[in-house]
Amino acid sequence: MRTNELKQILTEMTLSEKVGQLVQLTPDFFLAGGEITGPMQEWQMSKEQLFQIGSVLGTHTSEQVMQIQETYLEKSRLKIPLVFMADVIHGYESIYPIPLALASTFSPEIVEEVAQLSAKEATQAGVHVTFSPMGDHVMDARWGRVLESNGEDPTLSAALTRGYVRGYQGGNLSTEKNRLAACVKHFVGYGAAQGGRDYNTVDLSHVNLYQNYLPAFQAAIEEGVELVMTSFNTMDGIPVTGNKEMVQKILRGDLNFEGVVISDWAAVVELIAHRIAKDKKEAASLAFSAGIDMDMMSDSYQTHLAEIVLDTNQQVALDNAVFRILTLKNKLGLFEDPYRGLRELDDNQLAATKKQLAESILTISEKTPVLLKNDNQILPLKVGQKVALIGPKASSQDILGAWSWIGESEKAISLASGLQEKSLELSVLPMEDGQVITDEAINQALILAKENEVVILAIGETSEESGEAASLAQISLSRNQDKLVQAVAQVNPNVAVVLFNGRPLDLSNIVEEVPTILEVWFPGSQGGRSIANLLMGEVNPEGKLPMSFPRSVGQLPLSYLSLSTGRPMHEGNKDQKYISRYMDEGNDALFPFGHGLSYSQFECVDQGISHQAFREDETIEIRLAVKNNSQIAGGTTVQLYIEDLVTKVARPVKELKQWQKVYLEAFEEKEICFTISAEDLFYVHHDLSRSVETGEFNLYIGLSSQDESIKHQVAYTM
Ligand code: BGC
Repeated sequence: MRTNELKQILTEMTLSEKVGQLVQLTPDFFLAGGEITGPMQEWQMSKEQLFQIGSVLGTHTSEQVMQIQETYLEKSRLKIPLVFMADVIHGYESIYPIPLALASTFSPEIVEEVAQLSAKEATQAGVHVTFSPMGDHVMDARWGRVLESNGEDPTLSAALTRGYVRGYQGGNLSTEKNRLAACVKHFVGYGAAQGGRDYNTVDLSHVNLYQNYLPAFQAAIEEGVELVMTSFNTMDGIPVTGNKEMVQKILRGDLNFEGVVISDWAAVVELIAHRIAKDKKEAASLAFSAGIDMDMMSDSYQTHLAEIVLDTNQQVALDNAVFRILTLKNKLGLFEDPYRGLRELDDNQLAATKKQLAESILTISEKTPVLLKNDNQILPLKVGQKVALIGPKASSQDILGAWSWIGESEKAISLASGLQEKSLELSVLPMEDGQVITDEAINQALILAKENEVVILAIGETSEESGEAASLAQISLSRNQDKLVQAVAQVNPNVAVVLFNGRPLDLSNIVEEVPTILEVWFPGSQGGRSIANLLMGEVNPEGKLPMSFPRSVGQLPLSYLSLSTGRPMHEGNKDQKYISRYMDEGNDALFPFGHGLSYSQFECVDQGISHQAFREDETIEIRLAVKNNSQIAGGTTVQLYIEDLVTKVARPVKELKQWQKVYLEAFEEKEICFTISAEDLFYVHHDLSRSVETGEFNLYIGLSSQDESIKHQVAYTM
């Protein structure tokens, strides 16, 4: 449809129909076939109002979408199709590893594939828009939603966010009907919830906001993301969903976003609970003047916006908001095809898509686990070895993670099933996932541990323990799982812990007890198979931590991107008193950002730097050889960090700027080159502009944020 035709529709709409377009409800409002349902009664909503709304979120099946859209088009006066949105976060029915796991690949190409194939499946079920990617900057493992994040580094997160948007949206939403419009969320600052408690207060400086919290959103917007979701939290004392400065000035102004702004679930009405609105009318008024186009799951706009618009003469603003929603529907091709995507594929094609997804999930879930520790080379296992698999995650199919609301966990492949396909002498002692491990169960584990060469302990979290509304004050292993590890390690030195979880855990009370720890996150539908392949050495671990594992919950929030402080701690002063340190714990992470081992032995060898100094329009090249000093082929991620020695605004001691994935055969060596330009040195100044001054910089290249195998000092000059 052409723009003038869209504008024509706008002129035909009544005030109430315009307000309706800005309302998004769940399917249960429709399920009684257009009769007054429970939720409608509660909100005193009329049938006429229902058939004016703009959007539905969270449908489960193609039949549901078909039925709702059909009824809606039949009963609504203008027959503007509904746009269907849903949380397609790491897959729809076929589930990939959680986003934090995907971030362990450091690969925008991989997340692009995940997004593209997830879109292919979700569009078949009638979904048009996904509430993904999540670009929230995170530093606090107590916050359960770190599971949905790209980790603690804003440069990595921005690159991955771009990958998701590209994968979901493709090039043209109206012709590519197997693509979804993407909605980047939660704008902004949600990850900085105090104490890691979900929905809690946020108080951020603007320098921090611009440096760390905005880049992922900016990246998504540059990539053409169609929607932005505002967050629940306050910024500068005002919840973002009612915050003009955040939405109008920063999102629309500085970031130049032109698409649809949608609130998070009930966030408009929650302005009352925040105590910045006295009632729903004031909540609607604040949200609308802040710039929220669509009210997700509250009746504030529906009931009050028409009156507000008339009283305050905001007709133009209303028309603009409605037009943005009509434009989104038009870009999706809904006016021509309200059943977009539905039943596009026949049964054979559907089966082929499922197969393609299963293969892609398997390959990608082999790349997401992170080998945290592997002393004495317990892993890989050897063919024919006598192995005991023990623990609550041994046979558990609860391996999909918190956002797999349509994923079928009963079809997920458990680790026990994966290992049973291998040539091992395998004994399995499953334990009830999510239950406290009893002394009796530990005793059984000890018997089995003594009888076997190697013990795999499969432990971690249940999917309810991370994700939304799953904050934890304690992030060590719960339900006696640490006791199990300690006891088993006493009777068998060859223990490999396989950890299933959605956040960095505090592993300090098991880390010294066991030689091997493999972090597999929530690995998705094919989890057991991919982990079995990794344990057997048929594939080699290559994941790198996108988020630091703390030594203690007391260190949180924690990130490798810490500032120097006026009293930095170093080797020479670490026992002195008036130093920025903990008296009872180190400052550093137990496993730092960027860390991740391999069965191969990699080494980075300096091959020299092109210049010691460069100007604005010049670059510096650093060459290095990456060597595999082992007979096992594998892959790793070589990381380049910058340290700016003197700045106008205090900067982190080290910042990731570039990385490259390198795959090497046994004893192979490859030369790679990093090219540094002024852009890599830019940072946010006090006036929020981005620039860099002349001066000295250290460049570090290695295999984690703490690896300084290669170091150069360079000067940036006029
Ligand atoms: C979450 C969002 C999600 C929305 C819709 C909210 O509770 O914060 O991330 O997209 O629900 O399901």
